[in-house]
Amino acid sequence: MWAELDAVGRAPSGGYRRFAWTPIDRSLREWFAGAAQLRGLDVVVDRAGNQWAWWGEPDAATAAGRPGIVTGSHLDSVPDGGAFDGPLGVVSALAAIDALRQDGFTPDRPIGVVNFADEEGARFGVACAGSRLLTGVLDPDRARGLTDADGIRLGTAAAEAGLAVEHWGRDDETLRRVGGFVELHVEQGRGLIDLGAPLAVASKTWAHGRWRVDLPGEANHAGTTRLLDRRDPMLGYARLVLAARESAQRNDAVATCGKVRVHPNGVNAIPSLVTGWFDARGADPNGVLAVVAELRALAQVEGATMTEESWTAETAFDSHLRARVLDALNECDPPAGLVASEDGAPVTDRVPVLATGAGHDAGILGAAGIPTAMIFVRNPTGISHSPAEFAEREDCLIGVRGLAAVLRSLTG
Ligand code: GLV
Ligand code: MN
Ligand code: MN
Repeated sequence: MWAELDAVGRAPSGGYRRFAWTPIDRSLREWFAGAAQLRGLDVVVDRAGNQWAWWGEPDAATAAGRPGIVTGSHLDSVPDGGAFDGPLGVVSALAAIDALRQDGFTPDRPIGVVNFADEEGARFGVACAGSRLLTGVLDPDRARGLTDADGIRLGTAAAEAGLAVEHWGRDDETLRRVGGFVELHVEQGRGLIDLGAPLAVASKTWAHGRWRVDLPGEANHAGTTRLLDRRDPMLGYARLVLAARESAQRNDAVATCGKVRVHPNGVNAIPSLVTGWFDARGADPNGVLAVVAELRALAQVEGATMTEESWTAETAFDSHLRARVLDALNECDPPAGLVASEDGAPVTDRVPVLATGAGHDAGILGAAGIPTAMIFVRNPTGISHSPAEFAEREDCLIGVRGLAAVLRSLTG
């Protein structure tokens, strides 16, 4: 499966450009449907465009009070993203089903594999758009009107991909089928490097959000306009970027200014408009809110408007499901959470539990009341959202084995 996906959306950087509702995204969705079909899994596309491949009959099971257990992740990427963020969870889910079947296991409730649409929000700006639409936390009118860099609306792009976008809104028919969701994902920081463990389980996702700042200026000539006469929005933007960093440091949060658009974007013209995006997160939501409040005040001083594009509150994963996932991983043979001491000898076989600064569809489903858990696979570089993102094959295979053990425990 990894080899089949390898070339799809590969950019010259060696990373991936897999954006929602593009021809590359269509190839990925066709790949998912084909992989499901190969396994005899029934694929259902929900109203938001998320793909669900079912082993078993989800509606009959839901009616009988035994809704399915779902695993999976997403196939889209950030600009020049790594190979693992998203696809590892989808591929591992299908591989875990293969492993369970090879063992002759039959689940006592349906197992679903989901490919969430538009997790990264790289094209239309709102992350986890598929799961937010599904759970009703993203307003359908707002979603339809989101535009990409070329002014194409999400509603238009999704309609062209065959979705009935006029029916967007919370999708209870789909949600009822999900008795629990376990998302496997590459770890996206240095959380597992020093623990010597190949897998971890998530405790919570940090509070995080995105804001857009529009700074208007006055276009003029780079050579003939006296410094005194300029209204240059780039200076205000620079002050905001530096302030974001300083404020994040002081408030024990993180802030990132990774995307900016400059109009008209000429070397020899003062910009007429700078639009910048801020991403702020932190273990303490109050720290994040303090950063945002300070930026908002400074934006006002700079004559800029600051608009919240998304906000996701801190989300603690379901403690009961987490305990079941941990038990299944810890009881794997050999244990999936081997923790080595400095000299390499195992000191414990307990799987560690980590909070994450990354956002995930699992967080959105968890906040909507669905019992949700996450399994992280060690990232030996600690780098993510970059072509350098990596996970060792051996760790990925431990992840598949661990996920299969979890599914077996939840459906056996
Ligand atoms: C998604 O990966 C995010 O954390 O923004
Ligand atoms: Mn990501
Ligand atoms: Mn992801």
